[in-house]
Amino acid sequence: MSYQAHTEQRILWGEMFFKSFYRLIQTAKIYQDNNESTKECVSEFVQAASQVCMGEDLEIHVTRGKFYLQEDKLLYRRENTAVVHSMLEFFEQRGIQGLCLYPSIEKASSDEIASFARLLNHSADREDSVDWLIQKIEGEGLKWVKMLEDRDASLQNSDPHFGRRARRTYSHALSSIKEVSQKISQKDNAGIRKARRMAQNMVDLVSERESLFLALSTIKDYDDYTFTHSVNVAVLSVCLGKRLGLSRTSLEHLGICGLFHDLGKVEVSTEIIHKAGDLNEQEWEVVRKHPLWSVKQILKMYIPHELKSKILLAPFEHHLKCNLSGYPKVNFKKSISLFGKILTIADVYDASTSHRCYTPDVYSPDQALKLMMNKAGKDFDANLLQVFVNMIGIYPVGTLLQLDTGELGLVLDCPSGHKNSRPRIVLLVEDGEGNFARGEVVDLADQDPGRSSFRRNIVKGLNPTAYGIQPAQFLL
Ligand SMILES: [Fe+2]
Ligand SMILES: [Fe+2]
Repeated sequence: MSYQAHTEQRILWGEMFFKSFYRLIQTAKIYQDNNESTKECVSEFVQAASQVCMGEDLEIHVTRGKFYLQEDKLLYRRENTAVVHSMLEFFEQRGIQGLCLYPSIEKASSDEIASFARLLNHSADREDSVDWLIQKIEGEGLKWVKMLEDRDASLQNSDPHFGRRARRTYSHALSSIKEVSQKISQKDNAGIRKARRMAQNMVDLVSERESLFLALSTIKDYDDYTFTHSVNVAVLSVCLGKRLGLSRTSLEHLGICGLFHDLGKVEVSTEIIHKAGDLNEQEWEVVRKHPLWSVKQILKMYIPHELKSKILLAPFEHHLKCNLSGYPKVNFKKSISLFGKILTIADVYDASTSHRCYTPDVYSPDQALKLMMNKAGKDFDANLLQVFVNMIGIYPVGTLLQLDTGELGLVLDCPSGHKNSRPRIVLLVEDGEGNFARGEVVDLADQDPGRSSFRRNIVKGLNPTAYGIQPAQFLL
């Protein structure tokens, strides 16, 4: 389907959904459940909802006075303005920020749906309409609908559950990239909706607490390397883009580029992907094709045209070096794009700090940064790399440190301007059987009372993988 046809369909279905929703609510005010008009409105509403959601959860949000359907702003023609505005007013009067309708709505009885419409109507008379609705929906066992939280408010308030949200975003991003890869290998049509939502969540998270969000990139999984690597590249790229002052929309596109950059690896045989030891020249030749294959897969995906055009170039460029060596071979006159330069840095950093099949070399974060700095201006854009190094810090979040007290600790953060750049760390307590638990948080800038020496000093950095430690587990 062409982009124009897709947009026209989106307008039509969105309008149909809101018109049927409006009619349902109006009818429920007047008629009883078993009335023919009510039944007709219920059936129209369910049909319209099924059309929009296409078997997925249907999310309706109100953000800054606009409706969003499945994360896309509602588009409608002028003749339907009155209906959409009435619905907006209806939502706003009740403080409703969002609703989610599950695909099981198709199996709900007409009475249940009419009763939901009546609850929505009556909630206007309640002081805390949304809480009342949540209770009533649960009380009446309406399992196909859920009230959604205020997305704006959750962004503005400092969230005590940040770690949980960050981990959830990471695992959902991981499953979204796995799903897309699986669909591609089965020659099914893959969509971008979930990956896009995860990229948006990443932008929210980095805006709230950059250092903790960055800690997500310490998650490594040898067996699932390609997928964790893709999410890590997205996390690191979004962080770097944020430091560069990119807009929210650009950060979202950058996050998607990170998630999809290695999508072309689905075409590389598993024997090559999982080969222990060096690849031969023929095998390398196949591996070198994966950036182009990533582009091919993105082109085939069901993605709105304007978004697709923004996320094609960087995956193509992610193995091109700053001096245009690397692969695939190109005859560019200019240098690679900003997104391409960001991906290259994030890609090499995550790959060098992860245990992979291709190479036995796995570096600690500080070693990896040192090696990369030696290639500034050649492999990497020197200015961007400097911003990246500043962002990761002298002691990157998640670095495992051995201390002169015999203790082990993980870098939690290194507040800027902190004494001699000494980080705060979380101590790891060993149970005698090689298992670690989270200990107290200590500040390496703390001095011994009455002395001018520091209480704890760093002996050296260690590789967390060698100790079976996943830093993110202790940090988030
Ligand atoms: Fe790659
Ligand atoms: Fe990669």
